[in-house]
Amino acid sequence: MGNYICDNIGTAGAHLTFAGRDTVELAEKYGTPLYLLDEDKIREKCAAYTTAFRKYFPEGSLPLYASKANSFKQMYRIIKDTGLGIDVVSGGEIATARAAGFDLSKAYFHCNNKTDEEISFAIDSKVGYFVVDHLGELTALDAIAREKDVVQKVLLRITPGIDPHTYEEVNTGKVDSKFGSAIVTGQADEITKAALSLPHVSLKGFHCHVGSQVFGEDVYDRTAEVMLEFMADMEKKYGYVTEQFDIGGGFGVPYVESDGSIDIVQKIAEIAGTINKTCERLGIRVPAILMEPGRSIVADAGMTLYTCGFVKNIPGYKNYVSVDGGMTDNPRYALYGSRYTCYIASRMDEKCDMEADLVGRCCESGDIIQPGIRVPSGTQRGDIAAVCTTGAYNYSMASNYNRIPRPAVVMLKAGEDYPALRRETYEDIVRLDI
Ligand code: LLP
Repeated sequence: MGNYICDNIGTAGAHLTFAGRDTVELAEKYGTPLYLLDEDKIREKCAAYTTAFRKYFPEGSLPLYASKANSFKQMYRIIKDTGLGIDVVSGGEIATARAAGFDLSKAYFHCNNKTDEEISFAIDSKVGYFVVDHLGELTALDAIAREKDVVQKVLLRITPGIDPHTYEEVNTGKVDSKFGSAIVTGQADEITKAALSLPHVSLKGFHCHVGSQVFGEDVYDRTAEVMLEFMADMEKKYGYVTEQFDIGGGFGVPYVESDGSIDIVQKIAEIAGTINKTCERLGIRVPAILMEPGRSIVADAGMTLYTCGFVKNIPGYKNYVSVDGGMTDNPRYALYGSRYTCYIASRMDEKCDMEADLVGRCCESGDIIQPGIRVPSGTQRGDIAAVCTTGAYNYSMASNYNRIPRPAVVMLKAGEDYPALRRETYEDIVRLDI
């Protein structure tokens, strides 16, 4: 195996391999575009979280898979099997987890604008916890819970005012974020007081999430300190002892060689050290800890395969390699300028002597998967292109723009392959049309 962005990537002859499998053969077998997901890698990542949690955090602590990263029935079944809980953000994710037989008592329902219908559906589905965003939602939830004669367990989403220096679109911890109730404005205090007085919600603790693709050395330490100080304050003021502290998700993963990487177990040991020290300083009990990793569980378990179409040279300007997918299956470069490592999977034995933009087939010039990649100059129609690290926020953000059907998802496990989501057909494309 060579020096690849993740240890599940390699080559066999002229072909790229993923999870030990020949990607060109998989493309032939299932067609393209195709999402591959390495189930063993997903399980390995879940195990890293579970092991670290057992070792470093108190009893009752639990990693939750942030299912927005990649959500479909088989994902929930795998997560169920690993023992993790889940973070869900919509009625649709709850319905999917439910259909997969996930134990929803281990589900935490997020969203800054849950509708009455979703609140009602989540309560009826016996979702364990609501992560309440702001005071208005808390009162709405209390009223619906009263009608149903239940007491709903809640965490409160607090905005700690931490800027994790990640890209703006995924920056959520700052005071002016659309998410949560801020400490500095007094709204975090206000919602805590309300949660303690309303009869149909039961306060279990506090949540925060400062951003995604976070690499900053001390981001989680600073976040933990601010949040624990707030909890100590609430204990002093209202006698409320926090049971659960959910510190959110966000661990960064490498997409290209120049990105950093995070050792999950080591990072959790460091965060636990800060939490324990801070609790001691503040004289409070260490709460059960929750985290919500999404990207760090599934991103490098994924790869997308495409069939190349035209290779266009514009002399004196640039070259294009087009593929049979695009921003419909991976909108992340168009949205965030995200970097990716890409290969011509069917020409791994050739020198990459040409620069080209890897572009999709949508009617939009912004439909770029990755600009300025190096490819063999012999690349032509019919070759297979691979984009690495597409397990997170690719399928889950896919669209039918231009009425393009969404690709299939194929799982790779212990040398076997099986479909988890079938490819959409033109029938699927028109199924909602009246
Ligand atoms: N918890 C909360 C409350 C979140 O909002 C998120 C991500 C996570 C956990 C999981 O974060 P992760 O471990 O995956 O970084 N579509 C963007 C990412 C948006 C992240 C939104 N929230 C992208 O493609 O980069």
